[in-house]
Amino acid sequence: MNDTVSSETRFLHAVDFGLGAWQWGDRLIWQYGQTHKDEDCRAAFEVSLEAGIRFVDTAEVYGSGRSERLLGQFLQETDQPVLVATKYFPYPWRLMKKALMQALRRSLERIGIESVDLYQIHQPYSLLSIENLMEAMAEAVAEGLTRTVGVSNYDQSQMLRAYSALARKDVPLAANQVTFSLLNREIEKNGLLARCQELGIRLIAYSPIEKGLLTGKYSVENPPPGVRGRRYGDLLPKIGPLLKLMTEIGQEHGGRSKAQVALNWCIQKGTMPIPGAKNGEQAEENAGALGWKLTEEEVAKLDEVSDSISD
Ligand SMILES: NC(=O)c1ccc[n+]([C@@H]2O[C@H](COP(=O)([O-])OP(=O)(O)OC[C@H]3O[C@@H](n4cnc5c(N)ncnc54)[C@H](OP(=O)(O)O)[C@@H]3O)[C@@H](O)[C@H]2O)c1
Repeated sequence: MNDTVSSETRFLHAVDFGLGAWQWGDRLIWQYGQTHKDEDCRAAFEVSLEAGIRFVDTAEVYGSGRSERLLGQFLQETDQPVLVATKYFPYPWRLMKKALMQALRRSLERIGIESVDLYQIHQPYSLLSIENLMEAMAEAVAEGLTRTVGVSNYDQSQMLRAYSALARKDVPLAANQVTFSLLNREIEKNGLLARCQELGIRLIAYSPIEKGLLTGKYSVENPPPGVRGRRYGDLLPKIGPLLKLMTEIGQEHGGRSKAQVALNWCIQKGTMPIPGAKNGEQAEENAGALGWKLTEEEVAKLDEVSDSISD
């Protein structure tokens, strides 16, 4: 852990892996109700806990609050400690700073807890300035409603503004949650990842298996359903060589799956992946990314083939 990590945010840097909970309640992208029901979400949560995963990422907008409510139910059913991260959505009609505290209180009610471990601004487009939002975030920390604060989908300049605005209030910027996978390495190439590491900001990697593509179960003949299928139409024909290499590397590690290779690669890059899981089987497979390590040579080979796809 580097010296720039503040004592308040140290716990986040000790977490290698989390569970994403967008799938719990979302019908539009994730077909909640059809491909998975509450029992399946519960199994994903329980299996993850059994595997030692202690960090769950949700948001007020996921399933219009259903994800937070389900998480609240599951938390009540366990006596294990769980770190909870949720997010504020900067809707255009949220014009006052006090909207943030109101939204956070409603999230806490849905989850049924008194404070979260990480409260994040979901995305940077807001009619309130970054400085105003960060003032509200600092107040949330002062009120004891969140232990730490983070941002999500912020580019480097937006993140630095948030970092400085918080620093004026003596609050560290704990995390930036952005998309990162073997099929999307923008943050590695544009310097955001390095800047986070330099400043002690935890980089939380969302869509780390590229919404299912890196499991190898989708192909041109069998694209993912709905919106995902349209979004990945151009990428699917190109990913064969990467999937082949991932299979070979997984075999070198006693038959690790492609999803496990994809997630281990995120960890080796110094990020915390938070794969979403619809059920216990997916959660169990994803948790198998822990407890072993890709070699530096394997990471380099994966980088090379991944580069050849995006070039
Ligand atoms: N901050 C943001 O703006 C933002 C944006 C996106 C996501 N997130 C967070 O990041 C989390 C993860 O990202 P994501 O959900 O976009 O993508 P992801 O984790 O890359 O992909 C999750 C999807 O892949 C499939 N899958 C997962 N594990 C699998 C396995 N072992 N075998 C086969 N299929 C598997 C499942 O869908 P199918 O079974 O339907 O294929 C699952 O819903 C979310 O839950 C959310 O918490 C945040």
